[in-house]
This record gives sequence, C-alpha cells and structure tokens, in this order.
Amino acid sequence: MKIENRIAAVVTGAASGLGAAVARDLSRQGARVAILDMNDESGLALAETIGGQYANCDVSDATSVETALKTVRAAHGQERICVNCAGVAVAQTTLNKGRPHDPALFAKIIRINLIGTFNVASQSAAGMATIEPLDADGERGVIVNTASIAAFDGQIGHAAYSASKAGVAGMTLPMARDLAREGIRVLSVAPGMFATPMAADLPERRTQSMFANMPFPSRLGEPSEFAALVSHCIENPMLNGETIRIDGGCRMPPK
Ligand SMILES: NC(=O)c1ccc[n+]([C@@H]2O[C@H](COP(=O)([O-])OP(=O)(O)OC[C@H]3O[C@@H](n4cnc5c(N)ncnc54)[C@H](O)[C@@H]3O)[C@@H](O)[C@H]2O)c1
Repeated sequence: MKIENRIAAVVTGAASGLGAAVARDLSRQGARVAILDMNDESGLALAETIGGQYANCDVSDATSVETALKTVRAAHGQERICVNCAGVAVAQTTLNKGRPHDPALFAKIIRINLIGTFNVASQSAAGMATIEPLDADGERGVIVNTASIAAFDGQIGHAAYSASKAGVAGMTLPMARDLAREGIRVLSVAPGMFATPMAADLPERRTQSMFANMPFPSRLGEPSEFAALVSHCIENPMLNGETIRIDGGCRMPPK
C-alpha cells in the first residue's frame, strides 16, 4: 500500500517515542494521521505540528477505542493504515522476597499491551473491511502492531511484559489469516532497545549489558529507524503474518 494521497492512518501511543516517530514519518509521506493516546498535552501538540488529529483513547477499553475511532474517522475518513504503538513496560519478578507477582499489575500489562492492541486492530479491521480495495491484489488495509524482542528472550522481571508481547507476536499470523479475505495484512515489529522515554527509565547497568549482547550496531535504535521499518511493512505487499525483529542482532541477556 502506497503512503500517499492523504491516505488515512491511525497510530496509537503516538504522543511519545516510537509512535510519535511513526506519526511524523507517515505524515511526511502524505498520510492524514490520527494520534490515539492518553497523554492529551503531547498528543495535541504533535497533532498540531504534523497537521494531524488527536483523540484521547485508552486502548485497554474497547468503548474508548470505539469512540476515538469514530471521532477521527469523522474528520479523516476510514483509515487504511493502523499502527499500534501504545504500551507500558513494568518490571516485577515472579517472586519478590517470597511473595508472588502482583496479579493486578500482571493483568494491567496484559490489558494494555495485548488486549489494547487487539481492541484497536480488530475495530480498525472492521472499518477497513467496509471500504473498497485499492489495487489489483484487493488490498484494503494494513495493520502493524508493536511486539518486543522480550516476546522471545525476556529478561528477569519481564514475565508480564514478555507474556503481553508474546501474545502480540502470537496473534499476528492468525489475524493475518482471519483478515486475508478482506484484503487486510497484519504484521508485528519486535524492537530491541530504542531511544524513547520508556528506555530512558532503564538503569545504566541494564543498557550496558544489553549493548554487550548486540553484535552490531551496539547502540540504542533511533525511533526513525523503527518508523522506516513500519513504512516498509505498509508498502511491501508480500509482507504478511510475520513478526520482524529490529534489534542490531541483540539477544537479551537474563538481566
Ligand atoms: N523503547 C523501546 O526500547 C521498546 C522496545 C521494545 C518494544 N517497545 C514497545 O514499543 C511501544 C512504544 O514504546 P515507546 O518506547 O515509544 O514508549 P513511550 O512510553 O515513549 O510511549 C508509549 C505511549 O503509549 C501511551 N499509552 C500507554 N498506555 C496507553 C493506553 N492504555 N492507551 C493509549 N495510550 C497509551 C503513552 O501515553 C505513550 O504516549 C510499546 O508498546 C513498547 O512496549 C519499546
């Protein structure tokens, strides 16, 4: 799918970090971009900068997603591009001084990262299925979700986060199969460590140990590099049903 002609795109979590880079990049290429996030101040500011739209949305709440999509579609039309970047990272070990992981915290991470991604992707697909295909292949839309390399090699304290991201990776192929008849592709991107506010919270010893396990280049990824891969996912029609790592060859150490 070509990113041009003011094609409508929805990007969640785009008030910050990777989502913001995707929103900027899509807008630069000619898309009409809607930002869905809970951070009104940053979301509105970026929407103004890129000439896009902002809607408050808690992705973990299906009704909030429905309302936000309705709002942005009223202005931009039905999106053909849906990029899910909203997410949270919290570390807690399975046992902490003999006490089990806080179940409410575990559920919260799953609700935002996994169920939130599915809420937006499935509701976006329902809208995409109602519009005309764009090309001879019959493509109607593309959904790109954000997993993490923690889906495959999570570190100590990542049980909840890794489970949520493994869920995102795991639903990629069945969703692509579910939506094939409608001409909608589904992909996930699994980033290593990228320079965003989320990564800034990591202690220095953790980043250093990560760099030691990155063959090349041994540094934080730039959000623009993540955005470039998302654009490629959108534009290359043969990519479908796959989770693509972008991590400088990193395999995460246990801690
Ligand atoms: N930065 C990294 O190193 C890295 C690595 C792997 C995966 N990821 C994933 O990439 C995605 C983006 O991360 P980031 O680094 O840009 O983080 P970030 O903290 O900079 O941005 C996350 C955004 O998600 C929004 N958000 C959080 N909960 C929400 C909710 N319930 N509803 C709507 N919006 C919500 C926040 O307001 C924020 O704007 C996340 O899913 C994260 O797990 C990041």
